[in-house]
Amino acid sequence: MKKDFTYYSDPQRIQRAVKTLASFTEADRPFTRLVFSPEFKQARQWLEFEFRKAGLDCHVDKGGNLIGLRQAADDASEQKKVIIGSHIDTVSAGGQFDGVAGIVAALEVIHFLNQQNISLPFSIEIVDFLGEELNVWGLSCLGSRHMAGLLTDEMLSRTDQEGRQLGLEIESIGGKRQPPRKPRQDADKIVACLELHIEQADRLETNQTDIGVVTDIPGISRYAIKVMGRAGHSGTTRMPDRQDALVAASEVITTAQDTGIAIAEQDNKHFVATIGRIDVYPNGAATVPGEVNMVLDLRASHEHSRDEFLKQLQTRCMLISKNRSCKIEMELISNASVAVMDNELRQRLSHAANSLNLSHIDLSSGAGHDMVHLSRIAPAAMVFIPCKDGLSHCPEELATPEAIAKGSAVLARTILALASNEPYNE
Ligand code: HGY
Ligand code: MN
Ligand code: MN
Repeated sequence: MKKDFTYYSDPQRIQRAVKTLASFTEADRPFTRLVFSPEFKQARQWLEFEFRKAGLDCHVDKGGNLIGLRQAADDASEQKKVIIGSHIDTVSAGGQFDGVAGIVAALEVIHFLNQQNISLPFSIEIVDFLGEELNVWGLSCLGSRHMAGLLTDEMLSRTDQEGRQLGLEIESIGGKRQPPRKPRQDADKIVACLELHIEQADRLETNQTDIGVVTDIPGISRYAIKVMGRAGHSGTTRMPDRQDALVAASEVITTAQDTGIAIAEQDNKHFVATIGRIDVYPNGAATVPGEVNMVLDLRASHEHSRDEFLKQLQTRCMLISKNRSCKIEMELISNASVAVMDNELRQRLSHAANSLNLSHIDLSSGAGHDMVHLSRIAPAAMVFIPCKDGLSHCPEELATPEAIAKGSAVLARTILALASNEPYNE
């Protein structure tokens, strides 16, 4: 008899877990749990408790990832493993489901396997990847970069505006400040890395589809843009004499927007450009701004689009610099190429959705995810679930417990299919 998703996953338990995690937030901002913050550490403690309650052996690895291990059956050979993970850190004034849905869904798989007393020929690692969201050190995906051997000395030695050094912050939550220099040594034993995530766009909702099987994740490049003018008294500095860094920066911002629109129109897949972070110095109402620091966030399915965008932006910046008598510098602070999801795992996820009578479509991700970096060391794939109006990185972010349960059931079915080596392409 065909079983539906509720055989594998419990929407009420999901709702309780999401609600509890949402309670770990800054007091005066909704759903804000920045990496290394007190709220993050409290949420981690709660999560470790939940991992242990589910019978998982817990530890924090050198990259600061919280890992809950479900051992393979005694006679399992070669200790193959499957990783199911996501993240519990949020952006500022973020949502309740970005990352959290994936962690809760992963725990649901463990609860199902325990309830059915199923032992598998591979171990399962449930992973809360450290710091998936873009942080003050200009980096995202701290834990998955580390696991893939991609967190460097230079990155770990970065300090934020309060002088906090990234390596020491990772050490403060149980990781190591030294760079990994190579991927985790058992990478060849990893059969699959799986992540459930809210789509953070509206294609599933618009198409009334239960499941998205991710084909690829765009490359993300981030640049620090520094605009240097000359600070001055707002009351006495004559207009023609000004070197106003904020005025010059505002032209850089509108140029990035307009160039981004033009490049996106020419690109048949995905291209977006955003300047979402800006710091003005000295940021006083009676002072002509002397310096502006911004972060440019580029996402591209095709590297030629990114390169063309940068060429046009840099040409325009030279003009802005001349017209506004300000210096403009751009520095690459992080870069990840396009990540293609594993074809067999994608087919297994689609096959699992079919077996559960869940509708599914293939789609490309607009957002970045930890699976970008895991895909460099092992087969990786992602399940998307619908979120209301496609909203994310805001308090209105919403996914139903049923949607998370459906996605979790697809993960569970895929795990069982991997264990029995069930055919997936009939
Ligand atoms: O920024 C992103 O794409 C993801 O939400 N970290
Ligand atoms: Mn996320
Ligand atoms: Mn996010």
